[in-house]
Amino acid sequence: MCGIIGYVGPQGSDVTSILLDGLSKLEYRGYDSAGIAVLTTAGTLELRRRAGKIAKLVSSVENGSRPNKGSLGIGHTRWATHGRPNDINAHPHPDCTGILTVVHNGIIENYAELRRELTEQGHSFRSETDTEVLSHLIERYYMGEAYAIAVVSSEQPKLIIGARYGGGPLVVGLGENEQFLASDIPAILTHTRRVLIIDEGEIVALRPQSVTISRLDGTPVEREPLTIDWDAQAAEKGGYPHFVLKEIFEQPEALRRALLGRVRQGQLQLTELERMRQAGLLEGIQRIIIVACGTSYHAGLIAKYAIEQWARVPVETITAAEFRYCNPIVGPETLCIAVTQSGETADTLVGIRQAREHGAPVIAVTNVVASAITRLSDAVLYLQAGPEIGVVATKTFISSVTVLYLLGLWLGQQRGKLTAEQVQSLLASLEQVPGQIQQILDRAASTDDVIAPLAKRMARNTSMIFIGRGVGYPTALEGALKLKEISYIHAEGFPAGELKHGSIALLDPDTPLIGVATASHVYEKVVSNIQEVRARDAHIIVVATEGDEVIRQHADDVLYVPATEEIFSPLLASIPLQLFAYHAAVTRECNVDQPRNLAKSVTVE
Ligand code: F6R
Repeated sequence: MCGIIGYVGPQGSDVTSILLDGLSKLEYRGYDSAGIAVLTTAGTLELRRRAGKIAKLVSSVENGSRPNKGSLGIGHTRWATHGRPNDINAHPHPDCTGILTVVHNGIIENYAELRRELTEQGHSFRSETDTEVLSHLIERYYMGEAYAIAVVSSEQPKLIIGARYGGGPLVVGLGENEQFLASDIPAILTHTRRVLIIDEGEIVALRPQSVTISRLDGTPVEREPLTIDWDAQAAEKGGYPHFVLKEIFEQPEALRRALLGRVRQGQLQLTELERMRQAGLLEGIQRIIIVACGTSYHAGLIAKYAIEQWARVPVETITAAEFRYCNPIVGPETLCIAVTQSGETADTLVGIRQAREHGAPVIAVTNVVASAITRLSDAVLYLQAGPEIGVVATKTFISSVTVLYLLGLWLGQQRGKLTAEQVQSLLASLEQVPGQIQQILDRAASTDDVIAPLAKRMARNTSMIFIGRGVGYPTALEGALKLKEISYIHAEGFPAGELKHGSIALLDPDTPLIGVATASHVYEKVVSNIQEVRARDAHIIVVATEGDEVIRQHADDVLYVPATEEIFSPLLASIPLQLFAYHAAVTRECNVDQPRNLAKSVTVE
């Protein structure tokens, strides 16, 4: 979603380049306009704002309107919530005097009321945004309250104020005689790896030689910097045409990293859960609720099958946006698992906060160190996947599913439902999966590839149906989500047996169907559902297990994956579906890394 960058350093710095570079590193979060404000050596705040991609802002700056050098500035990528994505609504937003200017991530829910009050008091508004309310409020009180904001004033040429209240992340990058403020680590990684994470309810003051953090009530906060071990290159394309493709190809490594330090010689150790176990928080667990959104929700649906099978405890997977408002029955006997790669998804955070208030123990599964979810959880299982820059989740999906498998095996063992030998044997199969994903990827990168040509042929269709049963069902849902997200082809996933209860009416020769029919105890059933569809003349594509020649009789195209345990099959079956979506999107000339209207971390409800 929206992104913030701020810089304060010596007089005469090339603030414009630093801000534009930082914004380009935040592009992956998703946005539809961008802007910067630079305090020049002349002491004036110069604003440049443009609807559309950062390239438009860069070219307008390069074509004659580059702000002079200066000492500080702030920049922003805006994902429109209040008001259309145009030049006027783009951030930063100045106050009436032009002395103060503000960038802001999140939503100000009472903005209409504030705007009315401020207008009555004589403030004049230029944009339709909720953010502009802040600049006028700060003008009135010289202090503000919001989600994540950065404020500069031409009367304070060596000071940036950042504040965080609510969801949006905010980090400070520590430099020599210069400091950086950003809504995400990749934005500052080329300048420094030493960062301070700003917590909810904190204000940070950045000056060239110092950074001070305090609570909203003024209490000073001492915080040790973290050293980020992602190298800047991990956030570069590394020769791939798109981040999404690079990240699909990184999946064998991502899966290995999820197992790293947790699986050793057939033994499973989740030391992250030890404190929770010792505190007895997991003893009386009678049910589990997995709370997540989008792709993480699909990972949670797969985990339901695994945890119920191995730990024999009922599991419900609920989309976070519904969980919050369904008056959930949770208490100390309900373990809540939050799955969120970004750790900042507002719906998930709010739902988990509510579950905690009812006494539920919480385990977070996330990729981002020190993200907001980690502070709401009793234990954190990190994905260890490295940065994911493509807006759509690919490698973090595979990592989330893997970490949830480990959690399921651990719970199964702790509850005495799985023997050490059973765990060992399942882990041995899981450890084979990175090599098996590599085989799928090697084939896809070779002249034997069948996925790209197929996706190219199918890319002219406007609608596609995905079906699966058992763990094949959430795999189908994820395949459909990937396709619609990046290629904008309408796609829906269904449980294979459910299709004939209504949705089969959608099928015609122009609506291809992708069936997930890997080896499983419901294989025959899926095949008979596929036959029902074939009788309606739909083009049939099937993801099947290598060696299954029979499936060719029922399909127009078959995408083979290696054999594994049924429960682990989503890790393999998802790969051709990701590649299919990718090639369909490239054929349709879509913006694969930053699909329209999408954001990497959805920090508003
Ligand atoms: C799909 C995608 C979104 C996210 C969803 C949850 O490719 O990226 O559906 O999965 O917004 O995000 P996290 O996992 O950060 O909570």
